[in-house]
Amino acid sequence: MEKEKKDRGQWASSLGFIMATAGSAIGLGNLWKFPYLAGQNGGGAFVIVYILIVIFVGFTIMLGEITLGRSTGLNALGAYRKLNKKFAWVGGAGILAAFTILGYYNAVGGWVIKYIVQFVTGGVSGDSAVFFGEFISSPIEPIIWALVFALATAFIVWKGISGGIEKYSKVLMPALFVLLIVVVIRSVTLPGAGAGLEYYLKPDFSKLTPAAIVAALGQVFFSLSLGMGCMITYGSYLSKDENIEKDAFIVPLMDTSAALLAGFAILPAVFAFGFEPGVGPSLMFITLPSVFAAMPLGAVFGLLFFILVLFAAITSSISLLEVCTAYFIDEFKWSRTKATVVLACAIFVLTILSSLAMGPMANVLIFGKNFFDLLDFIASNILLPVGGLMMCIFIGYFWGIDNAVAEISQNGKYAFRLKGFWTVLVKYIAPIAVGIVFLNMLGIIKF
Ligand code: PHE
Repeated sequence: MEKEKKDRGQWASSLGFIMATAGSAIGLGNLWKFPYLAGQNGGGAFVIVYILIVIFVGFTIMLGEITLGRSTGLNALGAYRKLNKKFAWVGGAGILAAFTILGYYNAVGGWVIKYIVQFVTGGVSGDSAVFFGEFISSPIEPIIWALVFALATAFIVWKGISGGIEKYSKVLMPALFVLLIVVVIRSVTLPGAGAGLEYYLKPDFSKLTPAAIVAALGQVFFSLSLGMGCMITYGSYLSKDENIEKDAFIVPLMDTSAALLAGFAILPAVFAFGFEPGVGPSLMFITLPSVFAAMPLGAVFGLLFFILVLFAAITSSISLLEVCTAYFIDEFKWSRTKATVVLACAIFVLTILSSLAMGPMANVLIFGKNFFDLLDFIASNILLPVGGLMMCIFIGYFWGIDNAVAEISQNGKYAFRLKGFWTVLVKYIAPIAVGIVFLNMLGIIKF
């Protein structure tokens, strides 16, 4: 019994839980995806819609997941199964999503480490598009850097909840915000930064199409790590004294602040040096290195920037691995060591394949997608939205709002101020909104 408890673990403090949870949420989604989505989809208009969705859907599902986790004290699958056997598959799908996402997240984490090393040794010289293309398509080197990233992730998870995830998140998250603010100050004070600020923030409501709103909703989901049992798992290590209503408010607030700051860090600098804000990986791995190369002291700011990206990525990857290890620790009574080693190795098989998909295996297509894109599609477009939707349905109509409210308020011990608001959101607004996005992603309804 003692050993089982030790392998499971518990957060040592409320602050530690908040840092770890914010660490999971703040990741690559905030740093490179949010800024260009905002720029493309109407600037300030998109930002306003994004914030509204965070409040109405993000907060709702975050609080729901933490509640399920703390109520049961179990991993994602175990939590659903304990409350209603018919819903166990929802947790299972979440664990599968975590496994899948980490498969390619490791590869991107490896790219970030490579860039850090590159900046230490003088920056990305020459054509950064050629540099990036040659690097990710080579067969061995990206796998080695991904291995370094995966080992760091596994090490922290192996150290456990309070001694690993909490301890590192408490250092890495504040450091990330400090570095981010340093880069923001550099970026917005560059001559010519105004054009970037305008691109980012000037509201253009004509660009706010239904498709842009759907993009915002999908982004809220991924960015807050929702729909895959991460918040269930992290919630399961909480004490009953924790005010989870407050946590479900603070974490999205931190995540959104990081996303907004990332826009201020990146877009003004890109425009100040006359670059176009590229999309996807090219913004972070091709455009930004060119921007840093053109900037005075660019190697220093480039290094700081990629270190902060690494901090963001690793506090997310540990949450993905923890979702998987928690399942094997709870359900199969594995030791934390065994669960971490076996899962990290199994996931790394996917990492090797997704890394090779950028080069030697680029022509191997499944459903028209290479392996990397396939993993991303299955997880982000199918498993996460289904997970979020089913969670709302489960709490709203099966487990019951009353049970959830009793858990959140600890049977009235804590005031649950937003009870009425949250009830409406969980039962109606959030599932309908997520359902629409899901159908749109699958192409069943088109805007
Ligand atoms: N939220 C992370 C990001 O913004 C990604 C992530 C998704 C992490 C799901 C864990 C679970 O990059």
